[in-house]
Amino acid sequence: VASQPVLVPGGSALPARDADRLRSTFLEQFPASGTGLDAIRVVRAPGRVNLIGEHTDYNQGLVLPVAIDLGIAIAMQPRPDRRVELLIASTGERTAVDLDAGMVHGEGGRPRWSDYLAGMAAALVDAGGEAHGFDGLLASDLPIGAGLSSSAALDVAFGWALAGGAPPLPDPMAVARAAQHAENDYVGVPCGLMDPFAVVFGVAGSAVLLDCRSLEHRPVSIPPGAALVIADSGIRRDLRTSRYGDRRAECGAAAAALGRLDPAVRSLRDATLDALDAARSALGETGYRRARHVVTENGRVLATVAAFEAGDVDAAGRLLLESHTSLRDDFEVSLPALDRLVDLAAGVPGVYGSRMTGGGFGGATISLVREDAVGPLTAELEARYRTPAGEPPVVRRVIPSGGAGIVAIGERLA
Ligand code: GLA
Repeated sequence: VASQPVLVPGGSALPARDADRLRSTFLEQFPASGTGLDAIRVVRAPGRVNLIGEHTDYNQGLVLPVAIDLGIAIAMQPRPDRRVELLIASTGERTAVDLDAGMVHGEGGRPRWSDYLAGMAAALVDAGGEAHGFDGLLASDLPIGAGLSSSAALDVAFGWALAGGAPPLPDPMAVARAAQHAENDYVGVPCGLMDPFAVVFGVAGSAVLLDCRSLEHRPVSIPPGAALVIADSGIRRDLRTSRYGDRRAECGAAAAALGRLDPAVRSLRDATLDALDAARSALGETGYRRARHVVTENGRVLATVAAFEAGDVDAAGRLLLESHTSLRDDFEVSLPALDRLVDLAAGVPGVYGSRMTGGGFGGATISLVREDAVGPLTAELEARYRTPAGEPPVVRRVIPSGGAGIVAIGERLA
C-alpha cells in the first residue's frame, strides 16, 4: 500500500548516514515492533566509483574501484515469517514482499525494489545461505543510474538485512558473487563482479585492486593530499538497454578468435598487444580496437597501482586520461557529454587526471585532483557544463570508505 511520504521530503532529508535517526524513525513507522532503539539494527552498503580498470572485469582482468561515502542504509528488525515490509524513506513508498513469490518486474521489464530483494534472497539460498523476512526502513543518498553502483549497494544491503543484520555468508567474496548472481540471473542485468566486490570489500582511504580471474585482492592507499571528485553528466544509463551487452559479446568474439590461433588464450586477459597485431585481420578492425582497450587497460591498472605506491600522483592522473581516450576511441562507450566533463576537468590546474567511470553511455566522470583544486574544479564544471535538462552538473568530492556492514548505536559516519 502506497502511503504518504511521511518522512521529510526531498530524498536526502532522512540522511542515510544518520543511523540513530533511522532507528528512531523506524520505531515510529513500525510501532508494532515495540522494542528499544538498541534492538534496531542498521545495515549499510556504500556505492562505488571505479578509479581505473573499465570493461575489464568480465574479461577476467584487473579493476581498481573505491567504495565511497554515499550509500544505502536500512534500519531493520527480523520477522518470524517470509515477508519483508519495506518503507522507502525518500518516497514514503511501502512495499510488502513475499520472499517466495519470485520476480515481478514492472513496466517494460524494469526491475523493482522487490526484484532486487527477491533476487538476493534466492541467490543467498543458492549459495547455501538463508534469507529471512524483516521490517525495514531504507534511506539512500546514492543517486540511481549515475554509475555509482546503486544496484550493487542495494543487493548487498538487502543481503545483510535478509540475514537478520549480519554477514549473509561466511565468505565475503561469496556475498559479492551472490549479488552478481542475483543481478545476472534473477534481476536480469548482465553486470560483472567489480561493483558488488567494491561494495563488500571497500577499505577507508584506499582503492581496492581485484584480479577478476584469481579473485586475489588488496587495498591500495590513495596518496595523502589527493582527492576524488565525481561529476554526474545527468545522462542516465541502463545496463539492460545500453550497448553494454554488445561490448561483452564483442570481447567474447575477439577472445574466441585469438583462442583459435593460440589455445592458451581463454579470455582477453591472456592477450598481448603483439598477439593482437598478429591476429589483426582475423579480429577485424572493431574487434581489434575492443581488444586493444582491454589489454592496455589491464596494463594501466597495474601502472596506476605502481604510481600510487611510488607517490607519483601525476603519473596516475595521466593514466586516467589515457584510460578515457581508450574508452572513447577504442571501446566507444563514452559520450560527448562525458568527453566534455573530462576536457573541462583536465584544463583546471591541480587536476591530475579525469575519465568516464563505470559502464559508459552516461553516468559520471571521476577526477583525481590535488585537495586544493576541489573547489576550482567544482566551480569550473558547474559554470561550463550543462546536463540535458539544462542544469549544472552535480559535482561532489567522494571519500574512500569501508565496505558494507552494521552501523553501531552512536556511531557517526565520516
Ligand atoms: C558496469 C558493470 C561492471 C563493469 C563496468 C565496466 O558498471 O556493472 O561490472 O563491467 O560496467 O567496467
